[in-house]
Amino acid sequence: MDFNKLRVALDGPSGAGKSTIAKKIAEKTGLVYVDTGALYRTVGLWAMQNSVAADDTNGIIGLLDSLDIELTWRDGTQVVLLAGEAVGDKIRTPDASFYASAVSKIPEVRQKLLDLQMDLAERGGVIMDGRDIGTVIMPRAEVKVFMTATLPARAKRRYLELQAKGLPDTYEEVLADMEARDRNDRERETAPCVPAEDAVLFVNDDYGIEESADYIISLMRKAAEEK
Ligand code: DC
Repeated sequence: MDFNKLRVALDGPSGAGKSTIAKKIAEKTGLVYVDTGALYRTVGLWAMQNSVAADDTNGIIGLLDSLDIELTWRDGTQVVLLAGEAVGDKIRTPDASFYASAVSKIPEVRQKLLDLQMDLAERGGVIMDGRDIGTVIMPRAEVKVFMTATLPARAKRRYLELQAKGLPDTYEEVLADMEARDRNDRERETAPCVPAEDAVLFVNDDYGIEESADYIISLMRKAAEEK
């Protein structure tokens, strides 16, 4: 099969390095990188902007009709537009993470974001990162990887990222936050964050970004040869 048409599903919990590694793979291979978490974060931002509480499920469902969300690419980088405006780093704050986790539990929210993701999946030539890509969005992806690392390793990475951005969160806060989000993502009824039956499990505590990317690219080469 044509390497450029591959569909790569990269799932796993937060802090596993999915987006960094997926970006690196996209850079090295020319596949389009789709960050699906950004979509849930944007729904969370929409709820925040409309002063709807994260636990107000009906309130959030009520906002979906007026949700105007689009994905585009600028210089090879995914940009999410909310009502025509790029959301930028507004979706990267700890509050936005908390909201994203809450809204992603709501089946109506997942349904609303389904077509957008399915359209991209159908075109092929994509590496998508998320939680349910191998199970729901691209069940027929040629390559499926469930990438994770231990909780302390993931929390430390996220803590260093937030520090670099000048955000005041302590390591303990980041750890507690991540543990709660892990539980939410894993235990929710709709599209929980669990590996697809045919996914390769990759625990990357001891792998750097480059090594992780190269390992997944080797799986992609093998899949392209075999199909
Ligand atoms: O990958 P991320 O941290 O940006 O994701 C933000 C939240 O969205 C996270 O709590 C899990 C959820 N999510 C999801 O439920 N399904 C996806 N495909 C991607 C993210």
